[in-house]
Amino acid sequence: MSGNGSAILFSSLLRCCRSLEVLKSVHATMIKSNAHQDSFFVNQFVSQCSRIRQVGYALQVSAQMAEPNVFVYNAVFGGLVQEFASRECVELYVGMLRSNVLPDGYTFSYLVKACAQLSAVELGAAVHAQIEKLGFGRQILVRTVLTDFYSSIGWIGEARKLFDEMSDRDVVSWTAMIHSHSCVGDMISARRLFDEMPERSVVSWNTMIAGYGRSGDVETANSLFNEMPEKNLVSWTTMISCYSQNKRYKEAIECFERMKAAGVSPDQVTMTTAISACAHLGALNVGRELHLYSMSNKLNFSVHLGSALVDMYAKCGCLEKALITFYKLEEKNTFCWNCIIEGLAIHGYGSDAITMFRKMNEEGKARPNFVTFVSVLSACNHSGMIEEGRRLFSSMIKDYSICPAMEHYGCMVDLLSRGGHLEEALNLMSTMPMKPNAVMWLALLSGCRIHRNMELTEISAEKLLSLEPNNSSHYMLLINIYTEGKAWEKVERVREMMKEKEVQKRTPGCSWIDINGVVREFAAGHMFQLSSEMYFLLLRLDRQLKLVGFSPE
Ligand SMILES: *[C@@H]1O[C@H](CO)[C@@H](O)[C@H](O)[C@H]1NC(C)=O
Ligand SMILES: *[C@@H]1O[C@H](CO)[C@@H](O)[C@H](O)[C@H]1NC(C)=O
Ligand SMILES: *[C@@H]1O[C@H](CO)[C@@H](O)[C@H](O)[C@H]1NC(C)=O
Ligand SMILES: *[C@@H]1O[C@H](CO)[C@@H](O)[C@H](O)[C@H]1NC(C)=O
Repeated sequence: MSGNGSAILFSSLLRCCRSLEVLKSVHATMIKSNAHQDSFFVNQFVSQCSRIRQVGYALQVSAQMAEPNVFVYNAVFGGLVQEFASRECVELYVGMLRSNVLPDGYTFSYLVKACAQLSAVELGAAVHAQIEKLGFGRQILVRTVLTDFYSSIGWIGEARKLFDEMSDRDVVSWTAMIHSHSCVGDMISARRLFDEMPERSVVSWNTMIAGYGRSGDVETANSLFNEMPEKNLVSWTTMISCYSQNKRYKEAIECFERMKAAGVSPDQVTMTTAISACAHLGALNVGRELHLYSMSNKLNFSVHLGSALVDMYAKCGCLEKALITFYKLEEKNTFCWNCIIEGLAIHGYGSDAITMFRKMNEEGKARPNFVTFVSVLSACNHSGMIEEGRRLFSSMIKDYSICPAMEHYGCMVDLLSRGGHLEEALNLMSTMPMKPNAVMWLALLSGCRIHRNMELTEISAEKLLSLEPNNSSHYMLLINIYTEGKAWEKVERVREMMKEKEVQKRTPGCSWIDINGVVREFAAGHMFQLSSEMYFLLLRLDRQLKLVGFSPE
Protein backbone atom coordinates (compact mmCIF):
# COMPACT_ATOMS: atom_id res chain seq x y z
CA MET A 1 0.00 0.00 0.00
CA SER A 2 1.78 3.08 -1.16
CA GLY A 3 1.48 5.84 -3.69
CA ASN A 4 -1.31 8.38 -4.10
CA GLY A 5 -3.67 6.14 -5.98
CA SER A 6 -3.76 3.43 -3.38
CA ALA A 7 -4.12 6.03 -0.62
CA ILE A 8 -7.25 7.44 -2.24
CA LEU A 9 -8.57 3.97 -2.91
CA PHE A 10 -7.91 3.03 0.70
CA SER A 11 -9.78 6.10 2.00
CA SER A 12 -12.83 5.46 -0.10
CA LEU A 13 -12.82 1.76 0.76
CA LEU A 14 -12.59 2.54 4.44
CA ARG A 15 -15.65 4.75 4.25
CA CYS A 16 -17.70 1.68 3.42
CA CYS A 17 -16.61 -0.23 6.51
CA ARG A 18 -19.63 -0.06 8.79
CA SER A 19 -18.85 -2.81 11.26
CA LEU A 20 -16.12 -3.76 13.66
CA GLU A 21 -15.64 -7.14 11.94
CA VAL A 22 -14.91 -5.50 8.59
CA LEU A 23 -12.59 -2.99 10.22
CA LYS A 24 -10.68 -5.81 11.88
CA SER A 25 -10.13 -7.57 8.61
CA VAL A 26 -8.97 -4.31 7.03
CA HIS A 27 -6.54 -3.90 9.87
CA ALA A 28 -5.22 -7.42 9.28
CA THR A 29 -4.55 -6.44 5.66
CA MET A 30 -2.80 -3.30 6.82
CA ILE A 31 -0.53 -5.35 9.06
CA LYS A 32 0.36 -7.65 6.16
CA SER A 33 1.43 -4.73 4.00
CA ASN A 34 3.05 -2.95 6.94
CA ALA A 35 0.65 -0.02 6.58
CA HIS A 36 -0.23 -0.31 10.26
CA GLN A 37 2.85 1.74 11.09
CA ASP A 38 2.10 4.40 8.51
CA SER A 39 0.61 7.52 10.10
CA PHE A 40 -1.41 8.40 7.03
CA PHE A 41 -3.18 5.06 6.84
CA VAL A 42 -3.66 4.70 10.57
CA ASN A 43 -5.08 8.22 10.73
CA GLN A 44 -7.68 7.33 8.10
CA PHE A 45 -8.39 4.06 9.82
CA VAL A 46 -8.84 5.58 13.26
CA SER A 47 -11.12 8.29 11.91
CA GLN A 48 -13.38 5.63 10.43
CA CYS A 49 -13.40 3.77 13.76
CA SER A 50 -14.59 6.97 15.44
CA ARG A 51 -17.21 7.51 12.78
CA ILE A 52 -18.83 4.17 13.50
CA ARG A 53 -18.34 4.66 17.24
CA GLN A 54 -15.62 2.08 17.75
CA VAL A 55 -13.21 4.35 19.51
CA GLY A 56 -12.01 1.53 21.76
CA TYR A 57 -10.62 -0.23 18.71
CA ALA A 58 -9.13 3.06 17.48
CA LEU A 59 -7.27 3.40 20.73
CA GLN A 60 -5.96 -0.16 20.45
CA VAL A 61 -4.76 0.24 16.85
CA SER A 62 -3.04 3.55 17.49
CA ALA A 63 -1.33 2.11 20.56
CA GLN A 64 0.28 -0.52 18.34
CA MET A 65 2.08 2.15 16.34
CA ALA A 66 5.71 2.66 17.19
CA GLU A 67 5.71 6.32 16.25
CA PRO A 68 2.25 7.81 15.87
CA ASN A 69 2.25 11.43 14.80
CA VAL A 70 0.03 14.25 16.02
CA PHE A 71 -2.60 13.57 13.32
CA VAL A 72 -3.13 10.04 14.54
CA TYR A 73 -3.43 11.30 18.09
CA ASN A 74 -5.91 13.96 17.06
CA ALA A 75 -8.06 11.42 15.27
CA VAL A 76 -8.22 9.36 18.47
CA PHE A 77 -8.87 12.44 20.61
CA GLY A 78 -11.76 13.35 18.36
CA GLY A 79 -13.32 9.92 18.81
CA LEU A 80 -12.85 9.96 22.57
CA VAL A 81 -14.39 13.40 23.01
CA GLN A 82 -17.32 12.40 20.86
CA GLU A 83 -17.93 9.42 23.16
CA PHE A 84 -17.49 11.56 26.27
CA ALA A 85 -14.47 9.43 27.23
CA SER A 86 -12.92 12.52 28.75
CA ARG A 87 -10.68 10.79 31.25
CA GLU A 88 -9.17 8.57 28.57
CA CYS A 89 -8.61 11.71 26.55
CA VAL A 90 -6.57 13.31 29.30
CA GLU A 91 -4.61 10.10 29.85
CA LEU A 92 -3.84 9.83 26.15
CA TYR A 93 -2.60 13.41 26.18
CA VAL A 94 -0.17 12.59 28.96
CA GLY A 95 1.01 9.55 26.97
CA MET A 96 1.45 11.73 23.91
CA LEU A 97 3.68 14.19 25.76
CA ARG A 98 5.69 11.26 27.13
CA SER A 99 6.37 10.04 23.59
CA ASN A 100 7.58 13.52 22.73
CA VAL A 101 4.86 14.25 20.21
CA LEU A 102 4.01 17.94 20.26
CA PRO A 103 0.33 18.95 20.42
CA ASP A 104 -1.19 21.34 17.92
CA GLY A 105 -4.27 23.55 17.99
CA TYR A 106 -6.61 20.63 17.28
CA THR A 107 -5.13 18.62 20.13
CA PHE A 108 -5.82 21.47 22.50
CA SER A 109 -9.32 22.00 21.23
CA TYR A 110 -10.12 18.36 22.05
CA LEU A 111 -8.36 18.51 25.37
CA VAL A 112 -10.23 21.63 26.45
CA LYS A 113 -13.49 19.99 25.42
CA ALA A 114 -12.60 17.01 27.59
CA CYS A 115 -11.93 19.37 30.51
CA ALA A 116 -15.34 20.94 29.95
CA GLN A 117 -16.96 17.49 29.92
CA LEU A 118 -15.23 16.69 33.20
CA SER A 119 -15.94 20.15 34.64
CA ALA A 120 -12.26 20.00 35.53
CA VAL A 121 -11.65 23.59 36.55
CA GLU A 122 -8.02 23.39 37.60
CA LEU A 123 -6.97 21.08 34.81
CA GLY A 124 -8.66 23.35 32.30
CA ALA A 125 -6.89 26.40 33.65
CA ALA A 126 -3.55 24.53 33.51
CA VAL A 127 -4.21 23.52 29.91
CA HIS A 128 -5.07 27.13 29.13
CA ALA A 129 -1.73 28.24 30.57
CA GLN A 130 0.04 25.67 28.40
CA ILE A 131 -1.84 26.89 25.34
CA GLU A 132 -0.70 30.45 25.92
CA LYS A 133 2.89 29.34 26.56
CA LEU A 134 3.02 27.35 23.33
CA GLY A 135 1.43 30.19 21.40
CA PHE A 136 -1.82 28.52 20.32
CA GLY A 137 -3.94 31.09 22.10
CA ARG A 138 -4.41 33.11 18.95
CA GLN A 139 -6.10 30.35 16.97
CA ILE A 140 -9.78 31.01 16.68
CA LEU A 141 -10.69 27.35 17.19
CA VAL A 142 -8.73 27.15 20.42
CA ARG A 143 -10.13 30.44 21.69
CA THR A 144 -13.65 29.36 20.93
CA VAL A 145 -13.37 26.09 22.86
CA LEU A 146 -11.68 27.89 25.75
CA THR A 147 -14.53 30.39 25.83
CA ASP A 148 -17.00 27.49 25.84
CA PHE A 149 -15.05 25.82 28.62
CA TYR A 150 -15.14 28.86 30.88
CA SER A 151 -18.82 29.36 30.12
CA SER A 152 -19.60 25.75 30.94
CA ILE A 153 -18.03 26.03 34.37
CA GLY A 154 -19.80 29.33 34.94
CA TRP A 155 -16.77 31.60 34.68
CA ILE A 156 -18.55 34.03 32.42
CA GLY A 157 -16.15 36.88 33.16
CA GLU A 158 -13.19 34.83 31.96
CA ALA A 159 -15.12 33.67 28.92
CA ARG A 160 -16.07 37.22 28.07
CA LYS A 161 -12.46 38.36 28.39
CA LEU A 162 -11.35 35.75 25.87
CA PHE A 163 -14.19 36.69 23.60
CA ASP A 164 -13.41 40.41 23.73
CA GLU A 165 -9.76 39.74 22.91
CA MET A 166 -10.60 37.63 19.89
CA SER A 167 -9.66 39.37 16.70
CA ASP A 168 -11.63 37.35 14.21
CA ARG A 169 -14.94 36.62 15.83
CA ASP A 170 -17.51 34.96 13.69
CA VAL A 171 -21.24 34.59 14.07
CA VAL A 172 -20.74 31.29 15.91
CA SER A 173 -18.50 32.78 18.57
CA TRP A 174 -20.83 35.75 19.04
CA THR A 175 -23.77 33.42 19.44
CA ALA A 176 -21.88 31.19 21.86
CA MET A 177 -21.10 34.20 24.03
CA ILE A 178 -24.73 35.31 23.96
CA HIS A 179 -25.72 31.82 24.99
CA SER A 180 -23.30 31.91 27.92
CA HIS A 181 -24.70 35.17 29.23
CA SER A 182 -28.25 33.95 28.89
CA CYS A 183 -27.48 30.65 30.64
CA VAL A 184 -26.60 32.50 33.81
CA GLY A 185 -29.69 34.66 33.40
CA ASP A 186 -27.87 37.79 32.30
CA MET A 187 -30.17 38.80 29.47
CA ILE A 188 -28.97 42.39 29.56
CA SER A 189 -25.42 41.48 28.52
CA ALA A 190 -26.82 38.97 26.07
CA ARG A 191 -29.05 41.60 24.48
CA ARG A 192 -26.19 44.09 24.28
CA LEU A 193 -24.07 41.59 22.36
CA PHE A 194 -27.00 40.63 20.17
CA ASP A 195 -27.59 44.26 19.23
CA GLU A 196 -23.89 44.80 18.60
CA MET A 197 -23.15 41.75 16.51
CA PRO A 198 -22.33 42.47 12.88
CA GLU A 199 -24.41 39.68 11.42
CA ARG A 200 -26.96 37.32 12.94
CA SER A 201 -27.87 33.78 12.08
CA VAL A 202 -31.11 31.97 12.83
CA VAL A 203 -29.25 30.35 15.70
CA SER A 204 -28.46 33.75 17.21
CA TRP A 205 -32.15 34.65 17.20
CA ASN A 206 -33.13 31.26 18.60
CA THR A 207 -30.57 31.63 21.37
CA MET A 208 -32.04 34.97 22.40
CA ILE A 209 -35.59 33.64 22.35
CA ALA A 210 -34.61 30.65 24.47
CA GLY A 211 -32.79 32.95 26.88
CA TYR A 212 -35.80 35.20 27.36
CA GLY A 213 -37.98 32.14 27.77
CA ARG A 214 -35.73 30.77 30.50
CA SER A 215 -35.76 34.07 32.33
CA GLY A 216 -39.54 34.23 32.18
CA ASP A 217 -39.80 37.14 29.75
CA VAL A 218 -42.24 35.60 27.30
CA GLU A 219 -43.28 38.95 25.83
CA THR A 220 -39.78 39.90 24.67
CA ALA A 221 -39.20 36.36 23.44
CA ASN A 222 -42.36 36.59 21.40
CA SER A 223 -41.57 39.97 19.92
CA LEU A 224 -38.11 38.75 18.85
CA PHE A 225 -39.77 35.68 17.39
CA ASN A 226 -42.12 37.86 15.35
CA GLU A 227 -39.30 40.14 14.25
CA MET A 228 -36.85 37.51 13.11
CA PRO A 229 -36.36 37.49 9.35
CA GLU A 230 -36.34 33.74 8.91
CA LYS A 231 -37.69 31.04 11.21
CA ASN A 232 -36.68 27.41 11.20
CA LEU A 233 -38.12 24.42 13.03
CA VAL A 234 -35.92 25.10 16.05
CA SER A 235 -37.24 28.67 16.27
CA TRP A 236 -40.81 27.40 16.42
CA THR A 237 -39.95 24.67 18.91
CA THR A 238 -38.08 27.17 21.06
CA MET A 239 -41.05 29.54 21.10
CA ILE A 240 -43.46 26.72 21.94
CA SER A 241 -41.35 25.49 24.82
CA CYS A 242 -40.90 29.06 25.94
CA TYR A 243 -44.66 29.27 26.49
CA SER A 244 -44.67 25.85 28.11
CA GLN A 245 -41.82 26.62 30.48
CA ASN A 246 -43.74 29.62 31.69
CA LYS A 247 -46.91 27.60 32.17
CA ARG A 248 -48.70 29.29 29.28
CA TYR A 249 -49.81 26.01 27.81
CA LYS A 250 -52.71 27.34 25.82
CA GLU A 251 -50.46 29.70 23.92
CA ALA A 252 -47.99 26.86 23.44
CA ILE A 253 -50.65 24.87 21.61
CA GLU A 254 -51.71 27.93 19.61
CA CYS A 255 -48.13 28.53 18.56
CA PHE A 256 -47.91 24.90 17.52
CA GLU A 257 -51.00 25.32 15.36
CA ARG A 258 -49.54 28.46 13.76
CA MET A 259 -46.40 26.53 12.97
CA LYS A 260 -48.34 23.82 11.18
CA ALA A 261 -50.31 26.48 9.32
CA ALA A 262 -47.00 28.00 8.22
CA GLY A 263 -46.16 24.67 6.60
CA VAL A 264 -43.38 23.69 8.98
CA SER A 265 -43.42 19.99 9.92
CA PRO A 266 -42.83 19.29 13.58
CA ASP A 267 -40.22 16.79 14.67
CA GLN A 268 -40.12 14.66 17.79
CA VAL A 269 -39.00 17.45 20.06
CA THR A 270 -41.75 19.79 18.91
CA MET A 271 -44.33 17.05 19.28
CA THR A 272 -43.10 16.18 22.75
CA THR A 273 -43.35 19.80 23.85
CA ALA A 274 -46.83 20.21 22.38
CA ILE A 275 -48.11 16.95 23.88
CA SER A 276 -46.76 17.91 27.31
CA ALA A 277 -48.66 21.17 27.04
CA CYS A 278 -51.82 19.15 26.33
CA ALA A 279 -51.13 17.07 29.42
CA HIS A 280 -51.00 20.20 31.54
CA LEU A 281 -54.17 21.56 30.00
CA GLY A 282 -56.00 18.25 30.15
CA ALA A 283 -56.65 18.79 26.45
CA LEU A 284 -57.35 15.21 25.53
CA ASN A 285 -58.73 15.83 22.06
CA VAL A 286 -55.81 17.90 20.87
CA GLY A 287 -53.44 15.42 22.48
CA ARG A 288 -55.06 12.51 20.70
CA GLU A 289 -54.78 14.35 17.39
CA LEU A 290 -51.10 14.91 18.00
CA HIS A 291 -50.70 11.22 18.74
CA LEU A 292 -52.32 10.33 15.43
CA TYR A 293 -50.25 12.92 13.65
CA SER A 294 -47.04 11.45 15.09
CA MET A 295 -48.04 8.00 13.94
CA SER A 296 -49.11 9.02 10.46
CA ASN A 297 -45.92 11.03 9.99
CA LYS A 298 -43.88 8.07 11.18
CA LEU A 299 -42.11 10.06 13.82
CA ASN A 300 -39.75 7.98 15.89
CA PHE A 301 -41.33 7.20 19.22
CA SER A 302 -38.36 8.13 21.30
CA VAL A 303 -38.61 7.63 24.99
CA HIS A 304 -39.34 11.34 25.35
CA LEU A 305 -42.22 11.43 22.91
CA GLY A 306 -43.54 8.16 24.34
CA SER A 307 -43.41 9.43 27.90
CA ALA A 308 -45.13 12.65 26.95
CA LEU A 309 -47.98 10.60 25.47
CA VAL A 310 -48.21 8.35 28.52
CA ASP A 311 -48.23 11.43 30.72
CA MET A 312 -50.88 13.13 28.60
CA TYR A 313 -53.24 10.16 28.64
CA ALA A 314 -52.68 9.58 32.33
CA LYS A 315 -53.30 13.21 33.27
CA CYS A 316 -56.40 13.31 31.12
CA GLY A 317 -57.73 10.27 32.94
CA CYS A 318 -57.43 7.81 30.04
CA LEU A 319 -55.53 5.27 32.04
CA GLU A 320 -56.14 2.46 29.62
CA LYS A 321 -54.67 4.43 26.71
CA ALA A 322 -51.79 5.45 28.94
CA LEU A 323 -51.07 1.83 29.82
CA ILE A 324 -51.26 0.65 26.20
CA THR A 325 -48.88 3.39 25.11
CA PHE A 326 -46.63 2.63 28.04
CA TYR A 327 -46.37 -1.09 27.28
CA LYS A 328 -45.70 -0.41 23.61
CA LEU A 329 -42.64 1.69 24.35
CA GLU A 330 -39.45 -0.19 23.72
CA GLU A 331 -37.32 1.97 25.93
CA LYS A 332 -38.65 3.22 29.23
CA ASN A 333 -36.78 5.73 31.30
CA THR A 334 -37.43 6.90 34.82
CA PHE A 335 -39.62 9.77 33.67
CA CYS A 336 -41.80 7.37 31.76
CA TRP A 337 -42.26 5.05 34.74
CA ASN A 338 -42.99 8.06 36.90
CA CYS A 339 -45.75 9.19 34.56
CA ILE A 340 -47.56 5.87 34.68
CA ILE A 341 -47.08 5.38 38.42
CA GLU A 342 -48.30 8.88 39.08
CA GLY A 343 -51.25 8.43 36.73
CA LEU A 344 -52.32 5.30 38.57
CA ALA A 345 -51.80 6.94 41.94
CA ILE A 346 -53.78 10.07 41.12
CA HIS A 347 -56.74 8.15 39.79
CA GLY A 348 -57.05 6.05 42.87
CA TYR A 349 -55.32 2.86 41.70
CA GLY A 350 -52.96 2.95 44.63
CA SER A 351 -52.07 -0.73 44.77
CA ASP A 352 -51.58 -0.84 40.98
CA ALA A 353 -49.21 2.07 41.31
CA ILE A 354 -47.22 0.12 43.87
CA THR A 355 -47.27 -2.97 41.65
CA MET A 356 -45.95 -0.86 38.79
CA PHE A 357 -43.24 0.43 41.07
CA ARG A 358 -42.21 -3.16 41.84
CA LYS A 359 -42.13 -3.93 38.13
CA MET A 360 -39.89 -0.96 37.58
CA ASN A 361 -37.46 -2.34 40.12
CA GLU A 362 -37.64 -5.84 38.69
CA GLU A 363 -36.83 -4.64 35.19
CA GLY A 364 -34.03 -2.68 36.75
CA LYS A 365 -33.31 -0.50 33.72
CA ALA A 366 -34.58 2.75 35.14
CA ARG A 367 -33.79 3.78 38.68
CA PRO A 368 -36.53 5.23 40.86
CA ASN A 369 -35.81 8.81 41.78
CA PHE A 370 -37.13 11.60 43.93
CA VAL A 371 -40.28 12.00 41.83
CA THR A 372 -41.00 8.27 41.76
CA PHE A 373 -41.15 8.21 45.52
CA VAL A 374 -43.44 11.22 45.66
CA SER A 375 -45.78 9.24 43.43
CA VAL A 376 -45.65 5.96 45.32
CA LEU A 377 -45.98 7.66 48.69
CA SER A 378 -48.91 9.66 47.46
CA ALA A 379 -50.38 6.41 46.12
CA CYS A 380 -50.10 4.97 49.62
CA ASN A 381 -51.68 8.10 51.02
CA HIS A 382 -54.57 8.11 48.56
CA SER A 383 -55.32 4.48 49.25
CA GLY A 384 -54.60 4.62 52.95
CA MET A 385 -51.83 2.00 52.79
CA ILE A 386 -50.09 2.91 55.97
CA GLU A 387 -47.83 -0.12 56.38
CA GLU A 388 -46.68 0.04 52.74
CA GLY A 389 -46.08 3.76 53.06
CA ARG A 390 -43.88 3.36 56.10
CA ARG A 391 -41.92 0.61 54.39
CA LEU A 392 -41.38 2.60 51.18
CA PHE A 393 -40.43 5.72 53.07
CA SER A 394 -37.66 3.98 54.95
CA SER A 395 -36.60 2.00 51.88
CA MET A 396 -36.25 5.25 49.96
CA ILE A 397 -33.70 6.46 52.47
CA LYS A 398 -31.95 3.15 53.13
CA ASP A 399 -31.92 1.41 49.75
CA TYR A 400 -32.03 4.30 47.34
CA SER A 401 -30.16 6.95 49.28
CA ILE A 402 -32.77 9.53 48.43
CA CYS A 403 -33.04 12.26 50.97
CA PRO A 404 -36.73 12.82 51.71
CA ALA A 405 -37.91 16.31 50.88
CA MET A 406 -40.94 18.31 51.84
CA GLU A 407 -43.15 16.46 49.34
CA HIS A 408 -42.28 13.05 50.78
CA TYR A 409 -42.75 14.17 54.35
CA GLY A 410 -45.99 15.81 53.30
CA CYS A 411 -47.39 12.53 51.96
CA MET A 412 -46.32 10.64 55.06
CA VAL A 413 -47.78 13.20 57.45
CA ASP A 414 -51.05 13.19 55.54
CA LEU A 415 -51.12 9.39 55.38
CA LEU A 416 -50.37 8.96 59.07
CA SER A 417 -52.76 11.71 60.13
CA ARG A 418 -55.63 10.32 58.11
CA GLY A 419 -54.94 6.87 59.51
CA GLY A 420 -55.07 8.17 63.05
CA HIS A 421 -51.37 7.81 63.79
CA LEU A 422 -51.29 11.39 64.96
CA GLU A 423 -48.43 11.08 67.42
CA GLU A 424 -46.29 9.39 64.80
CA ALA A 425 -47.08 12.15 62.32
CA LEU A 426 -46.17 14.81 64.84
CA ASN A 427 -43.00 12.93 65.67
CA LEU A 428 -42.03 12.77 62.00
CA MET A 429 -42.61 16.49 61.66
CA SER A 430 -40.44 17.32 64.62
CA THR A 431 -37.57 15.10 63.48
CA MET A 432 -37.44 16.22 59.86
CA PRO A 433 -34.61 18.56 58.95
CA MET A 434 -36.79 21.37 57.62
CA LYS A 435 -39.52 23.30 59.35
CA PRO A 436 -42.99 21.82 58.83
CA ASN A 437 -45.09 24.01 56.57
CA ALA A 438 -48.69 25.05 56.90
CA VAL A 439 -49.93 22.24 54.63
CA MET A 440 -48.52 19.68 57.06
CA TRP A 441 -49.99 21.30 60.14
CA LEU A 442 -53.27 21.46 58.30
CA ALA A 443 -53.00 17.74 57.53
CA LEU A 444 -52.39 17.01 61.17
CA LEU A 445 -55.23 19.27 62.25
CA SER A 446 -57.58 17.56 59.81
CA GLY A 447 -56.45 14.22 61.19
CA CYS A 448 -57.26 15.51 64.66
CA ARG A 449 -60.76 16.27 63.46
CA ILE A 450 -61.33 12.79 62.05
CA HIS A 451 -59.86 11.04 65.05
CA ARG A 452 -61.13 13.52 67.65
CA ASN A 453 -57.83 14.32 69.31
CA MET A 454 -58.24 17.54 71.28
CA GLU A 455 -54.73 17.64 72.65
CA LEU A 456 -53.04 17.64 69.28
CA THR A 457 -55.72 19.95 67.93
CA GLU A 458 -54.40 22.66 70.23
CA ILE A 459 -50.80 22.11 69.17
CA SER A 460 -51.38 21.94 65.46
CA ALA A 461 -53.90 24.79 65.41
CA GLU A 462 -51.48 27.06 67.17
CA LYS A 463 -48.72 26.28 64.67
CA LEU A 464 -51.01 26.56 61.69
CA LEU A 465 -52.49 29.87 62.76
CA SER A 466 -49.10 31.31 63.50
CA LEU A 467 -47.96 30.42 59.99
CA GLU A 468 -51.12 31.53 58.23
CA PRO A 469 -53.04 33.86 60.50
CA ASN A 470 -55.19 35.33 57.77
CA ASN A 471 -56.80 32.27 56.23
CA SER A 472 -60.42 32.00 57.21
CA SER A 473 -60.76 28.34 56.25
CA HIS A 474 -58.30 27.35 58.97
CA TYR A 475 -60.47 29.06 61.55
CA MET A 476 -63.48 27.40 60.05
CA LEU A 477 -61.89 23.98 60.41
CA LEU A 478 -61.05 24.73 64.00
CA ILE A 479 -64.61 25.86 64.70
CA ASN A 480 -65.82 22.62 63.19
CA ILE A 481 -63.57 20.56 65.43
CA TYR A 482 -64.64 22.39 68.56
CA THR A 483 -68.26 22.26 67.55
CA GLU A 484 -68.11 18.54 67.04
CA GLY A 485 -66.35 18.23 70.40
CA LYS A 486 -69.04 20.43 71.94
CA ALA A 487 -66.34 22.77 73.22
CA TRP A 488 -68.49 25.86 72.89
CA GLU A 489 -66.18 28.13 74.81
CA LYS A 490 -63.40 27.40 72.41
CA VAL A 491 -65.67 28.01 69.47
CA GLU A 492 -66.35 31.42 70.91
CA ARG A 493 -62.62 32.03 71.40
CA VAL A 494 -61.85 31.24 67.78
CA ARG A 495 -64.59 33.57 66.62
CA GLU A 496 -63.18 36.30 68.76
CA MET A 497 -59.73 35.69 67.35
CA MET A 498 -61.13 36.05 63.88
CA LYS A 499 -62.74 39.34 64.76
CA GLU A 500 -59.56 40.55 66.39
CA LYS A 501 -57.46 39.73 63.40
CA GLU A 502 -60.15 40.90 61.04
CA VAL A 503 -60.05 37.67 59.15
CA GLN A 504 -62.56 37.85 56.36
CA LYS A 505 -64.90 35.05 55.59
CA ARG A 506 -63.95 33.70 52.25
CA THR A 507 -67.37 33.15 50.81
CA PRO A 508 -69.72 35.99 51.49
CA GLY A 509 -73.28 34.87 51.96
CA CYS A 510 -72.29 31.54 53.40
CA SER A 511 -72.73 31.77 57.10
CA TRP A 512 -70.20 30.04 59.26
CA ILE A 513 -71.71 31.57 62.35
CA ASP A 514 -74.78 29.46 61.99
CA ILE A 515 -73.03 26.61 63.65
CA ASN A 516 -75.73 24.03 63.54
CA GLY A 517 -76.38 23.77 59.85
CA VAL A 518 -74.20 25.42 57.34
CA VAL A 519 -70.81 24.83 58.82
CA ARG A 520 -71.05 21.19 57.97
CA GLU A 521 -71.61 22.11 54.40
CA PHE A 522 -68.61 24.29 54.59
CA ALA A 523 -66.64 21.19 55.48
CA ALA A 524 -63.21 22.68 55.85
CA GLY A 525 -61.72 19.21 55.61
CA HIS A 526 -62.98 18.98 52.09
CA MET A 527 -61.42 22.28 51.11
CA PHE A 528 -58.18 21.06 52.51
CA GLN A 529 -58.18 17.94 50.37
CA LEU A 530 -58.42 20.04 47.29
CA SER A 531 -55.76 22.48 48.26
CA SER A 532 -53.09 20.08 49.39
CA GLU A 533 -53.64 17.90 46.38
CA MET A 534 -53.19 20.88 44.10
CA TYR A 535 -50.13 21.86 46.01
CA PHE A 536 -48.40 18.54 45.60
CA LEU A 537 -49.53 18.21 42.04
CA LEU A 538 -47.94 21.52 41.20
CA LEU A 539 -44.69 20.59 42.84
CA ARG A 540 -44.66 17.33 40.97
CA LEU A 541 -45.35 18.95 37.64
CA ASP A 542 -42.51 21.34 38.18
CA ARG A 543 -40.07 18.58 38.91
CA GLN A 544 -41.16 16.55 35.95
CA LEU A 545 -40.92 19.48 33.62
CA LYS A 546 -37.37 19.90 34.74
CA LEU A 547 -36.73 16.24 34.11
CA VAL A 548 -37.96 16.49 30.55
CA GLY A 549 -35.55 19.36 30.26
CA PHE A 550 -35.39 19.97 26.56
CA SER A 551 -32.87 22.60 25.79
CA PRO A 552 -34.00 24.10 22.53
CA GLU A 553 -30.59 25.10 21.22
C1 LIG B 1 -35.81 7.32 13.20
O1 LIG B 1 -34.73 6.60 13.75
C2 LIG B 1 -33.96 5.90 12.78
C3 LIG B 1 -32.94 5.07 13.50
O2 LIG B 1 -32.59 5.62 14.72
C4 LIG B 1 -33.35 6.90 11.80
O3 LIG B 1 -32.61 6.22 10.82
C5 LIG B 1 -34.46 7.71 11.15
O4 LIG B 1 -33.91 8.69 10.32
C6 LIG B 1 -35.33 8.36 12.21
N1 LIG B 1 -36.47 9.00 11.57
C7 LIG B 1 -36.87 10.23 11.86
C8 LIG B 1 -38.06 10.72 11.13
O5 LIG B 1 -36.27 10.94 12.66
C1 LIG C 1 -53.74 12.02 50.65
O1 LIG C 1 -54.88 11.33 50.20
C2 LIG C 1 -56.09 12.05 50.31
C3 LIG C 1 -57.23 11.12 49.95
O2 LIG C 1 -57.17 10.72 48.65
C4 LIG C 1 -56.01 13.29 49.45
O3 LIG C 1 -57.19 14.04 49.55
C5 LIG C 1 -54.83 14.14 49.88
O4 LIG C 1 -54.68 15.25 49.04
C6 LIG C 1 -53.55 13.31 49.86
N1 LIG C 1 -52.46 14.06 50.37
C7 LIG C 1 -51.30 14.17 49.73
C8 LIG C 1 -50.25 14.93 50.44
O5 LIG C 1 -51.12 13.71 48.63
C1 LIG D 1 -52.37 39.21 57.86
O1 LIG D 1 -53.12 40.40 57.63
C2 LIG D 1 -52.64 41.52 58.34
C3 LIG D 1 -53.58 42.68 58.08
O2 LIG D 1 -54.78 42.29 57.55
C4 LIG D 1 -51.24 41.84 57.88
O3 LIG D 1 -50.73 42.95 58.62
C5 LIG D 1 -50.34 40.65 58.10
O4 LIG D 1 -49.07 40.91 57.57
C6 LIG D 1 -50.93 39.41 57.44
N1 LIG D 1 -50.12 38.29 57.79
C7 LIG D 1 -49.71 37.39 56.92
C8 LIG D 1 -48.82 36.30 57.43
O5 LIG D 1 -50.04 37.42 55.74
C1 LIG E 1 -56.46 28.99 52.92
O1 LIG E 1 -56.36 27.61 53.18
C2 LIG E 1 -57.07 26.80 52.28
C3 LIG E 1 -56.93 25.38 52.72
O2 LIG E 1 -57.58 25.18 53.92
C4 LIG E 1 -56.56 27.01 50.89
O3 LIG E 1 -57.32 26.28 49.97
C5 LIG E 1 -56.61 28.47 50.52
O4 LIG E 1 -55.95 28.66 49.28
C6 LIG E 1 -55.93 29.32 51.55
N1 LIG E 1 -56.16 30.71 51.25
C7 LIG E 1 -55.21 31.60 51.21
C8 LIG E 1 -55.62 32.99 50.90
O5 LIG E 1 -54.05 31.31 51.45
